[in-house]
Amino acid sequence: MCRAPRKYTDLTAVVIGCGDIAHSHITGYRLSGVKVIAVVDPLEAARRQFQSEYSIPFAFASFDEFIQKIKCGGEVQPELVSICTWNGLHAQQTIACAQSNIIKGIVCEKPIAVGMGEARRMMQVCEDNDVKLVIGHQRRYTPGWNRARKLITDGAIGEVLRVECTNLNGLLNCGSHGIDGSLYVLGDPTVQWVMGAVQRKTDRFERNTPVEDGCMALIQTMGSAQIFIQSDLSRKDAAHGRLIVRGTNGMIDTTESWVKLFNESSNGWKLLDLGIPEEEIDIMGGMANARLTKHLVNWINGGPESECSIRKAMKTLEVTMALSESARRNECMYLPLKEEQYPLELMISEGLLKPKIEGRYDIRAYLTRDNVDEKRYDELRSKNLAHHQIMLQLHMENQKHK
Ligand SMILES: NC(=O)c1ccc[n+]([C@@H]2O[C@H](COP(=O)([O-])OP(=O)(O)OC[C@H]3O[C@@H](n4cnc5c(N)ncnc54)[C@H](O)[C@@H]3O)[C@@H](O)[C@H]2O)c1
Repeated sequence: MCRAPRKYTDLTAVVIGCGDIAHSHITGYRLSGVKVIAVVDPLEAARRQFQSEYSIPFAFASFDEFIQKIKCGGEVQPELVSICTWNGLHAQQTIACAQSNIIKGIVCEKPIAVGMGEARRMMQVCEDNDVKLVIGHQRRYTPGWNRARKLITDGAIGEVLRVECTNLNGLLNCGSHGIDGSLYVLGDPTVQWVMGAVQRKTDRFERNTPVEDGCMALIQTMGSAQIFIQSDLSRKDAAHGRLIVRGTNGMIDTTESWVKLFNESSNGWKLLDLGIPEEEIDIMGGMANARLTKHLVNWINGGPESECSIRKAMKTLEVTMALSESARRNECMYLPLKEEQYPLELMISEGLLKPKIEGRYDIRAYLTRDNVDEKRYDELRSKNLAHHQIMLQLHMENQKHK
């Protein structure tokens, strides 16, 4: 006789990396009734802050120590973990968690990883260990994008011809939201090919990952729709959550929190009522993460696959990687993409993208907390500033004193 699968209730979670986005994960767990029992971060000040702000009983100074401890049994035996570290750590930490035999669900921040090889290994290891892995594409649960997707499915603008999105701050970074949103509103179509162009005149990084100065991509789906992405080229109207969709019978202009429709019955551009008070439309805070958690837990308990599953998120990463591989090879890249490494990094090492202006810099360097004045941090935190606002302010104050 088959036994019914175990239902996971009264869940506990551990958050790896106590920085900016970790606040949304912890708030999301709390709103979903999941107890956060430990945090992991090499920085003592970060661990202490999270333990005291959220009454978290346990903390680990190293990821390896955390994994060893949970494997040996003991008090910290989480069903869920959040990986909230910088991009280059996502793959190794996700894989180690999935192989722990304890953890049942993982929320890993975007981008999944820095290359298709790492991302495919993450998916495989999670599948092999029956661990559900979701990626921080929490905007898939926002009412604006949901309504836009439904309008498109219902044929409100006819056959879709083009989605356009203009991003800033690196393609792997904010660009991942624009690409993911474009694919989402189109109903996650199969992508046929990607044609991309990349510029990198400066030695630009984002959270320790090399990124381009600017790029654009044309993405051809198997249907009629194309997606046009531009990143760090124009600041005008740049917003990674804003998608402009043109169809044979109309247009949709949407963000995560509003939708405008133009078709033969709309009487010009019509702002749609999403039926949700504005203050409840949370794009990347605790409420957004609570929705992500709820769907993950449901998936673990035998419900439908999460909208943010690694399988769906993989397409977003593949398109991103195909864009720079297309520029590297000067040709259209048909998917699946064979290149397993990060093509932009390969281009740099092959001397194809020599910076014209010397000097490495990181557009998220201000998030590094190692040498900040913690007293000043606490002072700003007591004024209810968010972590990234505090870090930006401290960074500017530091620059002034130099
Ligand atoms: N989904 C979204 O909307 C969204 C928004 C912001 C950031 N992110 C993603 O979240 C990730 C983290 O970004 P952030 O802005 O929170 O960064 P952050 O710098 O604010 O926080 C990272 C934290 O990780 C800690 N850390 C470093 N090495 C570690 C290790 N080996 N083990 C455990 N902790 C370690 C750091 O000390 C720091 O406290 C990035 O991948 C970023 O792209 C996603």
